[in-house]
This record gives sequence, C-alpha cells and structure tokens, in this order.
Amino acid sequence: MSTDGIGRALRDRAIEILRTNDQGGYTIPTKGLYPFQWNWDSGFAALGFAEFDEPRAWQELELLFRGQWDDGMLPHIVFHQPQDSYFPGPDVWGTSHEPPTTGITQPPVLATVSRYMLEHATDPDLASERAAALYPKILAWHRWWWSKRDRDGSGLVVIYHPWETGRDNSPVWDEALARVEPTKKPYQRRDTSLIDASHRPHAYEYDRYLFLVELFRDCGYDPDAMAAKSPFKVADVGINAILQGGNRDLLALAERFGTEAERAEITTRIALSDGAFERLWSPERSLYLCLDLVSDQLIDIATSASFLPLFGRVADPARAALLADQLRAWGERCRWLVPSLHPDDTRFEPFRYWRGPLWFVINWLIARGLNAYKIDDLEKRLQGDTLNLAANFGLHEHYSPVDGEGGGGDTFTWSAAVALSWGAAHAAT
Ligand code: DGY
Repeated sequence: MSTDGIGRALRDRAIEILRTNDQGGYTIPTKGLYPFQWNWDSGFAALGFAEFDEPRAWQELELLFRGQWDDGMLPHIVFHQPQDSYFPGPDVWGTSHEPPTTGITQPPVLATVSRYMLEHATDPDLASERAAALYPKILAWHRWWWSKRDRDGSGLVVIYHPWETGRDNSPVWDEALARVEPTKKPYQRRDTSLIDASHRPHAYEYDRYLFLVELFRDCGYDPDAMAAKSPFKVADVGINAILQGGNRDLLALAERFGTEAERAEITTRIALSDGAFERLWSPERSLYLCLDLVSDQLIDIATSASFLPLFGRVADPARAALLADQLRAWGERCRWLVPSLHPDDTRFEPFRYWRGPLWFVINWLIARGLNAYKIDDLEKRLQGDTLNLAANFGLHEHYSPVDGEGGGGDTFTWSAAVALSWGAAHAAT
C-alpha cells in the first residue's frame, strides 16, 4: 500500500473497531482483555473519533474525567460497569471513588489530544466550548503531577508502578522491580487465558505488580505515604517527556482559556523541566534514559521511550540530530520502526509486549516530535511503517518489528485511532 492514503477499506475497518469498542460514550481498548476505560488509550481513541465524529471524541475525554480524584489525579482505569474478564478489578484496587477507579495514573496525553482536536476541528465553536470545560480538569491533573509526583520541585516526576508508564514489562524496570517483594496472596490472572501467554508479562512481574497495588491500597493511596513506602521509584523518560510535551500543549490551551497567572505557572514549570532533563541525558549513549531514584543511577537500556524527549521538545538541535542518527541506525537493524527495545539487546523478544514489539501510539508521539524538529525523513518513515502495518497485518495491540506480525489483543482501539488520524492527514495533503 502507498503511504499517500490508508485506503477506504482500512478506514472503514478502523471506524468499525472504534464503534464496536464504544460502550456508549467511552471506549474499551479491546474486548475481553481490557474491558474498561483506560486513561491514555482513551486519549488516542478520541483522536480517532475526531476523524469522523467530533462530539463523540470530546465525550470520550469527558467520561474519562468522571474518574478524576479530588486532588487532580486521573486514574489509569475507570471501572464504569462491572466486568469479570479482567484482573485486577475494582475489588482488588479498593479505592473509594465513584465510579470505581484504580489508584495510580498513566501517561498524560490529554492536553496534547485536546489541543490537537481543537486545532483540527471542523466545528470550532463546539470544540472551543468542550475544550474550555476540560481545560481546568487537565490543568488540575498536571498540577497533581508537578506537586504530588515532584515533591522537591526538581522538574522531574516519579512513578511508583510500571503500569503508570503504560510500558508494563519494559526491561528498564527489571532491576528496580527486583527490589519489590512478590505478593503473598494467591491470585488468578485472566489475560493469559484470553491471549497468547508468550505475548504477556511473566508471573514473576505480576507477583510484584500486585505487591505494589496491595501496598498502595494499604496506604489508602495517600501520596505522602506512597512516596515514603514505595520500593519502586523511577523518573521515567517516557512519562517525563510526555508530560513536558503535554505542558507545552497545556500552555497553548491556557492562551485560549486560562488566566495570566496560570500561563505564568505553566511557563515556569516548562522551564524547570527543560533544565531537569539534563539528568536523564547519557553522553555515552547519546540518548535520554530513565533514572532509578532509589539507586540514583541512570538505567542503561535503550528503548523507544528514549526518543520521546523529541515529543517533549527538550533536546537542543544538536541532541535532536544525535537522536535522529540513532533512530536511523535502529531502522537499519529491523524492518519496522520503532521497536520498544533495541533489536540487538539480549533481552529483545519480538512478541513480548514491551520487550521488543512496536506500538502505534509511541510512533505517533515520536513522529510529532520529529515534525517539531523538522526531521522529515524519519517522520515519513514512522508514518509509512505504521500505515503499512495497519493495512497489511490488521489493527492489533502491537507488532513484531522483525516481520510485522501483530500480537497481543486484536481489533485494538488505539491502533485503529492512530491509523485513522494519520490516514486522514495523508489524504488531505
Ligand atoms: C494490563 O492489565 O495489562 C494493563 O497494562 C495494566 O494497565
């Protein structure tokens, strides 16, 4: 397929997937495996809906914010309706919110999504009204990150659980997760009976994911207690870069809907975080890396998240060029960009979730960064690879960067959404 357009069949298929996964105002990532509303999945779902139903796109975000906590935290899952195909469900999380939610968060893409939908709206009045109502909620969420997850005002935020990054079993967490005890409570996973278990995290990881959930639940999800007690504390390059790109998009929203004081507050935060990214730069690797805040060491593993600082626009032009050189070199090592782990890494597994497969949403975010730096060849390569995968292999959760085969869940919302979003952009040019 050419990259000039995604073709009617693929567009129809993508729309059908979004409609099928629509639960009447919010979208599940896929049936069975993920039967609730996930935070950043829904941000991308909205981008997809925006291509053919703008009111429905705004509604996606509005329903997600029904899960927002009083302190501004936006949880990683909102359990709108009971469903027993997923573990751990609301009974395990034990939060007191209504509707029930988890007690941890996910990558903050909603300022970016809202700005994008506002600027690409075919009905500007509707978009302006809906974005204006969302703006204070998004601001509250960013303020939560800046205060509760950056308690000493360093400019970098901390995550306490791999699930908060969305990149659950990336090898970057291996060492930090080894310090976490396994849960002592017996439990029954559902994911491995729904899809190929070799595409999912190991029991070793789940035992520790659950220990952390139990620990935070026993703390009542109090941010101070979580900060004091969590054995897992990482300044993730992915979250920090997505937050920083989101801060810039939040500032653009504040230009329309905010006060002078809010614009000054956001501008100050952006400057602080731009400087703080120095702590994540590895001169030896010429890449940004994650920082383990327990050992105070950079985690020396190159993943697709190392390119997300392009999305955050924190790299100066010289560093952006170095990142682009690295990405081109990755592109020579595998057929499809961007693998979640460098294919030469001994831990690389082409089908196991975040230990090798590529993900459309990461491609979308990196490509936005490439666009900002005008690195056109790579932006085109990422869009072309993504659309060709969608057309030739279907709309899956993730893909092998070696041969393109799809893995994880199928009929996947955010893959359909990215294909729609890029297909429409290509068709328009
Ligand atoms: C899962 O259950 O696999 C999710 O990634 C957690 O959010």
